[in-house]
Amino acid sequence: MNELSVSRPNNLDAYWMPYSDNRYFKANPRMLARAEGMHYYTPEGKEILDGTAGLWCCNAGHGRREIKEAIQKQAAILDYAPTFQLGHPIAFEAASRIAEMTPEGMDKVFFTNSGSESADTALKIALAYHRARGESGRVRLIGRERGYHGVGFGGMSVGGIGGNRKQFGALLPYVDHLPHTHGLAENVFARGLPEHGAHLADALENLVALHGAETIAAVMVEPVAGSTGVLVPPVGYLERLREICTKHGILLIFDEVITGFGRLGTNFGAERLGVTPDIMTMAKGLTNAAVPMGAVAVRNAVYDAVVDGAPAGIELFHGYTYSGHPLAAAAAIATLELHRAEDLPGRARAIEPYWQEAAHSLRGLPNVIDIRDCGLIAGIELAPRPGKPTQRALDIFRRCFDEGVLVRVTGDIVALSPPLIIEKPHVDRLIGTLADAIRAEAA
Ligand SMILES: Cc1ncc(COP(=O)(O)O)c(C=O)c1O
Repeated sequence: MNELSVSRPNNLDAYWMPYSDNRYFKANPRMLARAEGMHYYTPEGKEILDGTAGLWCCNAGHGRREIKEAIQKQAAILDYAPTFQLGHPIAFEAASRIAEMTPEGMDKVFFTNSGSESADTALKIALAYHRARGESGRVRLIGRERGYHGVGFGGMSVGGIGGNRKQFGALLPYVDHLPHTHGLAENVFARGLPEHGAHLADALENLVALHGAETIAAVMVEPVAGSTGVLVPPVGYLERLREICTKHGILLIFDEVITGFGRLGTNFGAERLGVTPDIMTMAKGLTNAAVPMGAVAVRNAVYDAVVDGAPAGIELFHGYTYSGHPLAAAAAIATLELHRAEDLPGRARAIEPYWQEAAHSLRGLPNVIDIRDCGLIAGIELAPRPGKPTQRALDIFRRCFDEGVLVRVTGDIVALSPPLIIEKPHVDRLIGTLADAIRAEAA
């Protein structure tokens, strides 16, 4: 074994783990040392079925040879080159491949390194667009309660999860939020898109009345909200949001970091849900998470306004050292090639009815108060333990892991998002293990 591939660290102190209970983890470490196909393996060699595609990102399954080889080959050819005022061929190729998959007329792609960077990039592009068109008063950014757009100051401010914001002060000014779309009373146990709630988009008209359309730059939402615990858009909701944005000259941004690359059975959520935004963020599945990469695709008119509208010289004062990194670009091209060759969105579509049935089979188990699904996503909402919010879900997560199954929990919601290569026996094992854990944590 390579000296650098440490499978059993002997000191856990130095690493300040992200979004983690560091004290609990370091007392009770759960490690993943290796992965292949649908499974992770612990350092002891125990197999863990991946019910979450890592963090909603390894859509093509783990350890894909084609991606690994593309990265290796690229590392030997060009390790790094700047993309500020210079270029390297593979970044252009990766952008073209993405543009082939995005909705028609969204052919311009800006590279980032994560979903958070994509969110902040999209917001900055929206502001630059209005300014380029002489509407520099459009500075207000609208998000949605319970939205998640990563951890940069833009995404965090426009995001609507209180717990992610409260440690960090005043955040960005000129931000407002639409109401969330969680309709536990009227949409409980809905399958796919819930019937009730399209009217919630009308709250945007209220914000327009309150602030004036001439102050609003953009609205950013996830087509299906993932991190907050799987909120599926009500029938007609996104269409209504689109209409109101168009009417008032407000840009609509879809955060497709989770819903992109086959998760909903189509290349992007926009396609599945039949609504085309002006700007779209992506990351995660773009490279199958083998190398960090994010991207922002924009309508050609947005690009043209910013680029053609600028005086000679740099048109957008924004970018990252690693934008279009050669290794990430190689991983993206290989990943997108796998998507095409193996029709991963088609595979997701084919197994979706079985997936939906399996997820909803959990109805009736103790404390299960709602189940939601869309594409290869499911959310199972649990009644919290009295006085101990989130504890029940955490205990279920730990029990599943110890039984060899990885699920994700957020609050008291279990969120499932397996690799798109999942097969029926995997679904049975995933849902069966979760059902046992829910029963075991009934008290
Ligand atoms: C919708 C959405 N946007 C943005 C992000 C942030 O992505 P990253 O963690 O790569 O910064 C996430 C991460 O889960 C996400 O789900």
